[in-house]
Amino acid sequence: MKSLIKTADEIQHMRVAGRLGSEVLDFIAPHVKAGITTGALDALCHEFMVNVQGTVPAPLNYCPPGHTPYPKSICTSVNHQVCHGIPGSKVLKNGDIVNIDITVIKDGFHGDTSRMFMVGEPSKQAARLCAITFESLWIGIREVRAGAHLGDVGHAIQTFAENAGFSVVREFCGHGIGRNFHEEPQVLHYGRRGSGLALKAGMIFTIEPMINAGRRNIRQLADGWSIVTADHSLSAQWEHTVLVTDDGFEVLTLSEGCPLPP
Ligand code: MF3
Ligand code: CO
Ligand code: CO
Repeated sequence: MKSLIKTADEIQHMRVAGRLGSEVLDFIAPHVKAGITTGALDALCHEFMVNVQGTVPAPLNYCPPGHTPYPKSICTSVNHQVCHGIPGSKVLKNGDIVNIDITVIKDGFHGDTSRMFMVGEPSKQAARLCAITFESLWIGIREVRAGAHLGDVGHAIQTFAENAGFSVVREFCGHGIGRNFHEEPQVLHYGRRGSGLALKAGMIFTIEPMINAGRRNIRQLADGWSIVTADHSLSAQWEHTVLVTDDGFEVLTLSEGCPLPP
């Protein structure tokens, strides 16, 4: 089995890619306003990545087994959309919540991060879902250290989200990342403490909990990509790319505009 542990050189490249991914979110944040289309957000991000950063948008034409090529450069998942929403003619309106998920490739290495944005005045429930999901990501991140198990991460996220009255999507997970967009291991956002892979310094993976206000069940739309909640309840997601260190973790997808940890 291929080693999951990155070399010092690979880690340095991943730091660069991670920061660039987060900086795309900093760039797009002021544009996320009522009246803009998700397609316009995609076009702005694409142009910034390619012409300002010199990065490659990893989603564009990404084609994992069983899928058609992904047609855009970012994912925009609005309200009851869980993940992999395809940007297009949808106009953002006051009260919407939208996840923007960015993955850049720089010098062959991937940086993957997403945030929630609130358009105008969200409902109390929508704001709480975004906040609890952000906190669940950081509660998961704080479990990461050499010797911990992936089940510790999943358990911490699940316990926190469910105690808040929300549900955890099971069909999608975090993932190892490096020269490839999606590598081993799978990082579940639910689980049992002490179960799963034992972490070692030098591993890099994403944590990206998808939390629903209603039931956890999902459906895929006919576009072959967009995932929505089966009950049409709101869904939120936040994502960071994280390095395991001997005494803890290093979040690779930080930048100036990144919301501070709770
Ligand atoms: N960025 C997503 C993730 O966090 C994957 C998107 S795949 C795409 O793993 F093709 F939809 F872009
Ligand atoms: Co990811
Ligand atoms: Co992502």
